[in-house]
Amino acid sequence: MRAHPAGPLHGDGLPQPSLPPPPDPTAMARVDAQIWPATARRDPEGRLVLGGLPVTDLVARHGTPVLLLDEADFRARAAAFQSAYTDATVPGTVSYAGKAFLSGTTVRWLAEEGLGLDVCTGGELALATAAGFPAERITLHGNNKSDAELQAALAVGVGRFVVDALDEVTRLATLAAAAGVVADVLVRVTTGVEAHTHEFIATAHEDQKFGLSLTSGAAREAVLAVVARPELRLLGIHSHIGSQIFSTAGFEVAAHRVVGFIAELAARDGVVVEELNLGGGMGIAYLPGDDPVAPVAMADALRMIVAGECQRRALPVPRIGVEPGRAIVGPSMVTAYEVGTVKPVEYRTGAWRTYVSVDGGMSDNIRTALYDAEYTVALANRVSGAPAMLSRIVGKHCESGDVVVRDAWLPSDLARGDLLAVAATGAYCRAMASNYNLLTRPPVVSVRAGVERVVLRRETQADLFALDPALADVPAASHA
Ligand code: LLP
Repeated sequence: MRAHPAGPLHGDGLPQPSLPPPPDPTAMARVDAQIWPATARRDPEGRLVLGGLPVTDLVARHGTPVLLLDEADFRARAAAFQSAYTDATVPGTVSYAGKAFLSGTTVRWLAEEGLGLDVCTGGELALATAAGFPAERITLHGNNKSDAELQAALAVGVGRFVVDALDEVTRLATLAAAAGVVADVLVRVTTGVEAHTHEFIATAHEDQKFGLSLTSGAAREAVLAVVARPELRLLGIHSHIGSQIFSTAGFEVAAHRVVGFIAELAARDGVVVEELNLGGGMGIAYLPGDDPVAPVAMADALRMIVAGECQRRALPVPRIGVEPGRAIVGPSMVTAYEVGTVKPVEYRTGAWRTYVSVDGGMSDNIRTALYDAEYTVALANRVSGAPAMLSRIVGKHCESGDVVVRDAWLPSDLARGDLLAVAATGAYCRAMASNYNLLTRPPVVSVRAGVERVVLRRETQADLFALDPALADVPAASHA
């Protein structure tokens, strides 16, 4: 089992890097189009520029850490998914998975681009409706929806409910009856397929909290319970197999199993399924060499797989739904940090790495500590001709597992006050941010064609003190 012992020995337990040889200075300054947002480039002075604005200027106005969001990149990715799935003989549906990152501004962009929205809590739903997102394009997920969440969703007219438990069918039907509405429902099933970055595992093992098992009969029982209730209308079947997936193989096995289930429902129960939602999980490039499948190629492959499976079983082809989160927002943001303490450490006799401390850390990006995530990092305020030094980007938290980028090559003249940019931090970074060590959560600033806009402002000490009755009345002037 992997653990994060938060002690001085932490580093000893970690695998040593198997890094490629040190890159030359030109390679370190390169802005790889696969990893960085579409408008990222170096200006003639060597500064990283996003949306037409140098990161140095953005940082001067908004401070660090700051997440910079390339609006054109975000919109282009959303539009690419939308057209890949809706421009088809049987038009599909695309719902952005709000858990990756949500804000009023980005939700409005998604509405303008024509996408749907997947929310999985009352909080996400409230944000979407407050931002004016069309309720009929919202899907409500969640393995433990409360009555209040179901009631709120019914009241605003949410388009789809993905039921995740047998008793939820009864609860939703009762609440829909009380609200005098008919709720459209998908049943979330577990296919036994678990997909990860480069591989997938297909087993009968379904030991997890989400969904209803195909093999145990729970999924069929839920479908029959839905069709038995006049307050519910069965739209389809939902299957989500994992996240950061690079191949279509896992989806293929899941689609095979779900279409088999749809065929069984048609033959045994006369139940017709209009939609097969394959969830999210489309991977993105974090590192050079990561090679994600383009939305249109993935869409074509999924349609082929589903159509082929349906043809074999003489079934009408359902529409395909997908819920990408990371693949839309992930690559469109970078996090800018200011370099503080720079400390060379001999990690093995004669082998050195430099610990580069930045002014954020696991409170704005927990993914490295939590999932061993890997990122690309670059010097953002200048380019350097200095040779590469093996670096570890760490935060300012009181914990040795507070690592942002475990292994990176950075110019050896890196110094306090330099700016670093970490690429592809749009998904599950700000969304999973915390106030650990009472750091305030960073702002998100969007950039487009030389114009910037605050999407989320920086949290303040006053925001945090306001939650603490013993401190709420302390005048703001005395907040550090
Ligand atoms: N649909 C459902 C039902 C999901 O559970 C998820 C993600 C998605 C869509 C969107 O998946 P995406 O396209 O973003 O991969 N915090 C983790 C990822 C958790 C994903 C949870 N569910 C991380 O930082 O990698």
